[in-house]
Formats: sequence, structure tokens, C-alpha cells
Amino acid sequence: MLGTQWGDEGKGKVVDRLSSQVAAVCRYQGGHNAGHTLVNGNRKLVLHIMPAGALYSGVLCAIGKGAVVSPASVLEEIEALRQWDISVEGRLVIDARCHIVLPSHGLLDSASDRAGPGRAEIGTTRKGIGPAYEDRAGRRGLRFGDLARPGQLADRVHYLVERHNFLLRERYDAAAIDPAEQTDLLLKQAEQLLPMVGDVPTELMRHANKGDAVLMEGAQGYLLDVDSASYPFVTSSNTAAANALVGTGLPPVFPMRVLGLAKAYNTRVGDGPFPTELTDEVGERLRTVGDEQGATTGRPRRCGWLDAVLLRQAVRDNGVGGLIVSKLDVLDGWDEVRIATGYADTAEGDWPASEDDIEWEVLPGWQDAVAGCTRAEQLPAAARHYLERIGELAGAPVVALSTGPERSHWVEFTDPLSLSYSAEQHLSRLQL
Ligand code: IMP
Repeated sequence: MLGTQWGDEGKGKVVDRLSSQVAAVCRYQGGHNAGHTLVNGNRKLVLHIMPAGALYSGVLCAIGKGAVVSPASVLEEIEALRQWDISVEGRLVIDARCHIVLPSHGLLDSASDRAGPGRAEIGTTRKGIGPAYEDRAGRRGLRFGDLARPGQLADRVHYLVERHNFLLRERYDAAAIDPAEQTDLLLKQAEQLLPMVGDVPTELMRHANKGDAVLMEGAQGYLLDVDSASYPFVTSSNTAAANALVGTGLPPVFPMRVLGLAKAYNTRVGDGPFPTELTDEVGERLRTVGDEQGATTGRPRRCGWLDAVLLRQAVRDNGVGGLIVSKLDVLDGWDEVRIATGYADTAEGDWPASEDDIEWEVLPGWQDAVAGCTRAEQLPAAARHYLERIGELAGAPVVALSTGPERSHWVEFTDPLSLSYSAEQHLSRLQL
């Protein structure tokens, strides 16, 4: 399940919806910078690191080695789920190779994400995800498996936190953190977490071997991929679907199909290019009706019309075989809706120099409600037409539609988990 935009496409709801049909759900990149929202009646739960399959008692919840994991965040979410009478005991497995996000990573993230000569402000979530991935690449990070070796842990934590403190004090003039307190906290958390530490690929393959489906739950979105997207305004992991294999640890011998989740319009939090952004009352209407506030940071999301140029790139680069469209109900009651279909005078991979370079398709709006629809026949004709155009422009058919926050708010054209397509079909849909 890949977010095809800048994150916040509604992955939590969709993963939850599909989880009843799979044996396991596995997060494979990012950390608690994600915010996957689940709604049940008037109750709302935002999961940041826990796989969104957690609500189904029979589903294995796995966090693969490509993710960076805050122990505090895991423990908080176990508790939040307990408040909903949901236990993940015995069915949550965190790969021993997952890197640990420490509180000092968060401090460093907050202190360092500032514009200055030679450096842009990214507008990160301040959760410490970038600094934790930096320590991973620097070969000094701590991993969940290290929690089982308390004898060496203190030295490792001291080394790492002193390094963070040096930067915090000397470079950023910010408050430091006590390494001894940090070690004690981690040792306490280890007692609770160690029973959940294991080998994710083995667990997932046990299910795959029985022919059961495993849902790999992407976080953020393709347009935030560290290598492929608008660098430096990106997150610090590979959000691309290909990383689902490295991040879960599953070998590339299983048939993998990619479902792309696209919001019916675009939103972005943080800085960076956003060609179709609307800074006028139309954008404000999207933000208000769509309740577009960051699930992790509460920041207002930037809003704009759907960008089919970028969506098509996401479909192409990730082998997306079917699209699930979310929040189409937010467009109920508009006279017309727009889709960006091209950037004039812009080289592939570049951004349009100005708004005037964006080519638009204007489609009729609809007055009847998409909100709450559960069957395709209930959808207004103009809304169906909008979906068909999305599929044509993106190069992948729309297979399902989320029509509201509840699990039941859902229209399925084809079963998303039974998609079957070949590389040839993928290329021919994109006319490549
Ligand atoms: P970081 O991932 O916290 O380092 O933030 C880098 C960029 O990714 C910022 O623009 C964030 O707003 C954005 N970002 C990170 N996680 C999410 C997410 O789950 N949804 C949307 N944007 C995100």
C-alpha cells in the first residue's frame, strides 16, 4: 500500500479496511513521523508506528528492519490500543534490526531544521526520524536487538547521546540530555519490549508459505522519497514500493502487487514544491471541508487540485496496478473540479516555472453526495467521470474509493487484494 502523493492520503483507514482479508500487516520504513488515523463511531485513534492492521485480533502486526522505531511511541500506542480493548500481545513483532529513535534524536531534529546559509528548512515533523537514519548510515545507531545486551548498552547509549549533546550545545545552542537517564529509561523500556523483538521475515514467510496475503503498509508517500522526489524537501527513507522488500526483509520471490492510494486532491505538510497549491479561498475550502491538519504535528496542510502529472509518475515508478481514491466526498457540492494534466515547457523531473505553465482539465462537479456511499450505483455520474479520468490520466484503474472516515464508507469496483497484472500491462497502460 503506497501513498502516491506527499503522505496523508488516508492510509490508516484503507489499511484497516483491508486488514480483515490478510494474515499480517507490516510497516517497513519511516517511523512515528507517520500518522495513520482510524475512526470507529465517535472514537478516533491515530497510530504513528503501529501497523494499522492492529484492530483485527487475528492479524500479525510487524515492524520491519527498514523502519526506525521510538520505544516510547510503541509503548504509548500499545496503551492507546488497550484503551480500545485491543491487545497486541503475542502478535506484535519488531525486527531486531530496527534502529531505535531516542529522545535526543527528536531534540536534534527540532534544533537542526532551520534555514541558514547553504541550508533550507525542510519543515520536518521534529520526531527525530532524519537524525536516527543518519546514525544508522553512520554505523553508530542502536538497534532493538541491542536491548538484549544490557552490558554493552550503557556505553553505546553514552557514545551516541554525547555526540548528540555536542551538536545540541555547541552547534545549535540547545539544551542537552543526560546519557545516564537515557540509558536507565531504555533499560526499563527494554523489559517491556524485548518479548516483542524478533525476526520479521521469518514470521511473514510463515504466513506467505501458507498462501496468506501480507499487506506491506507504506508510510509518508512516494513524493517524499529521499532519492526520487523533491530533494531536499523529502523524508529520510525510501518510500518507494521497491523498498517494501528491503524494509520488510521479504525476498523478491513472492508476487508483489502495488496498490496506490491517492487523495482526490493534493495536500502537503512541510516545505517544498507544490505546483497545484491553492493559496486562495478554494484552497481554504479544501482545508476546512477536508479537515486538513497534520495527524502527527497538527500543522495545517497546504491544499491544491489533483496533480495527475505527479500521480502518473508515482504509478509508473512504483508499478502501481490499481488506485484507491480517498476523500472524494470532500469535493461534494463544487460547481467544477480541476486536474493538472501537464506542465508546459518543463523537462521531465523539473517543476513548472510558474502557475501559467500548468495545463488543466476542468470537469463538471456534482451536487449529490459521495459522502457515505457504499455502492458504485450510488455515486453521482460526474463523480464517476472524475474517477475514470483519474484512472486514465494516471495510467492505473481506480479499484476502490473511500467515501468517509468510517470503515463502512467504501465503494469497491474490483477487489483490491485480487489485482493481477503483468509488467507488459503496466507498460502499455502508461503507453511506454
Ligand atoms: P520528517 O520525515 O519528519 O523528517 O519530515 C520530512 C518531510 O516529510 C516534511 O515535509 C514532513 O512534513 C513530511 N512528512 C513526514 N512524515 C509525514 C507523513 O506521515 N505525512 C505527511 N508528511 C510527512
